[in-house]
Amino acid sequence: MITNVSVIGLGKLGATMAGCLASRGFNVIGVDVSEKAVDALNSGRAPAQETGLAELIGKNQERIRATLSHLDAILNSDLSFVIVPTPSDKRGAFSLQYAAYAFEAIGKALAKRDSYHTVVLTSTVLPGSTRYGLLPILEKFSDKRCGKDFGLCYGPEFVALGTVIRDYMTPDFCLIGEFDERSGAVLEAVNCRVALNNAPSKRMSIENAELAKLALNSYVTLKISYANMLANLCEHIPGGDVDVVSDAIGVDKRIGRRYLTGGFGFGGPCFPRDNVALSFVGKYLGASTQLLEVNDNYNRTISPRFVERLKRYLRRGSTVAVLGLAYKPLSHVIEESAGMYLCLALAGSGFRVLGHDPLATVEAEAALRMHALVADSIGSCLQDAECVLVTTPDDVYKALGPEDFIGNKESVTVVDFWRCLAESIRHHPAIRYVPMGRCIDDGVAISKLDGLWGGEGN
Ligand SMILES: NC(=O)c1ccc[n+]([C@@H]2O[C@H](COP(=O)([O-])OP(=O)(O)OC[C@H]3O[C@@H](n4cnc5c(N)ncnc54)[C@H](O)[C@@H]3O)[C@@H](O)[C@H]2O)c1
Repeated sequence: MITNVSVIGLGKLGATMAGCLASRGFNVIGVDVSEKAVDALNSGRAPAQETGLAELIGKNQERIRATLSHLDAILNSDLSFVIVPTPSDKRGAFSLQYAAYAFEAIGKALAKRDSYHTVVLTSTVLPGSTRYGLLPILEKFSDKRCGKDFGLCYGPEFVALGTVIRDYMTPDFCLIGEFDERSGAVLEAVNCRVALNNAPSKRMSIENAELAKLALNSYVTLKISYANMLANLCEHIPGGDVDVVSDAIGVDKRIGRRYLTGGFGFGGPCFPRDNVALSFVGKYLGASTQLLEVNDNYNRTISPRFVERLKRYLRRGSTVAVLGLAYKPLSHVIEESAGMYLCLALAGSGFRVLGHDPLATVEAEAALRMHALVADSIGSCLQDAECVLVTTPDDVYKALGPEDFIGNKESVTVVDFWRCLAESIRHHPAIRYVPMGRCIDDGVAISKLDGLWGGEGN
């Protein structure tokens, strides 16, 4: 039974996996090229920001140590997880630059090891990357053969920032892409000890697992876009309400309710880029991937389409407040965030834009410089705003009352993308409340629909 494991790459996912593995009794050696990350872990601090991580590492410090040396880690553990960045390149593919560097160091270390060791790539990669892009590096630098001297798996995780610990330790299933039966069995045994919920394993070829990882993420984004499209349709149907429709169709077992709440576009470090990468590889291979491209385009045009609508009601130069700049609540990550794109689209259309986010102030300020101001309090953000757009269903925004929005103004328009604001705001006489995903003007919607059925021949 394996008790010593390494985690190579101590970022948001790797550091969290290190803490979780230690909490399940493994002796963990963390490796990073960043001295700061190694020092943090060695002194019992979290090298990355993630909910609950600092406590987890603090509690399990005696079973965790970190090093800058891949050799030290490979010689003193029997399995290594590799979780280094795989940034998108210009083509939309995932670059193997960091992974190749790590695999070279692991290969050199394997050359000095005299017993079997299993290497597990956890970073998100395109189909073919592990076997054709990285395995040759391991064999070249170790001068050893995969399957005989060492094992190899592709073992991705399905985790969301903010809930990485929970997602990693109670997965719906463990996805294992195995070079051979032995490699897969070793990883499955480790996974079984980490998962608290007897999650089933799905073992398959490395390429099928690489595809399954991307396919799952991409499918979820299709569902999100479908719900967003449904929300838009509801705005034009008399009495239309996306929550009512989603609650009904979500009961059907073929569909399910999760990710079906029409709201705003999807963003973050994974979803958008996974779609683009899957489309890239599909096109390269000659498969038809239009569905992925349509979805990506639909998502990317949500903000500009909304701004076009807004321009009909709001004069140029008006002050618009955007509440929610991170890609989701309880996060400081602004990568590919719909709220950020909205700020840029508004500024580009001549509005004065003030943004706010409970956690992402610093990140948003740097990214929006020259385009929009980021307020450090909700009060200063809302003070002059003629129109307020609530882009994330954050508890901080749900708790706002009518006075917060109105301030000293006579009236204010509040657009609620997630229909999450307090009841008192919805019916306040000084607030024009616009819940996206619900019919905004029944009169207009009725006359439009009536026009469809009232003509001759019907
Ligand atoms: N963060 C997530 O929730 C998440 C979820 C699923 C998949 N992933 C995938 O996991 C991978 C890592 O993501 P992340 O968010 O943890 O990245 P990150 O940027 O937070 O961390 C990566 C870490 O790897 C280190 N590193 C780079 N090269 C190295 C090397 N040769 N040896 C040792 N360490 C090295 C970096 O210094 C950094 O600390 C990516 O492929 C990402 O797509 C991440």
